[in-house]
Amino acid sequence: MKAPTHHLFLCGSIRANGEPNGVCKNKDSLALLSYLQSEVKDRMLDGVEVAMTGCMNMCAHGPILIDYPAGHFFGKITESKIDDILDAIEEGEVASQHLIS
Ligand code: FES
Repeated sequence: MKAPTHHLFLCGSIRANGEPNGVCKNKDSLALLSYLQSEVKDRMLDGVEVAMTGCMNMCAHGPILIDYPAGHFFGKITESKIDDILDAIEEGEVASQHLIS
């Protein structure tokens, strides 16, 4: 298996008991996950994978999206920001305007 060049982790607010409960979920991160997956598929981005995570303890900036292995942390994610992040990936750049500083 080839490792992804961009593994995009979006917080789904999953807790230890398996229930999603938290800021990111309350800000529609599950719908954003569906949008992100659709966009990656539609754009046929090679080497880009998407996964949902549990709470990353950065709730104040939620919904959170992390791009590994680069380690870029993006906050207050919206569909528009997802578009910017994927546009930047396609151009070999980083959507630095959305990074959590
Ligand atoms: S619920 Fe997403 S960072 Fe805490």
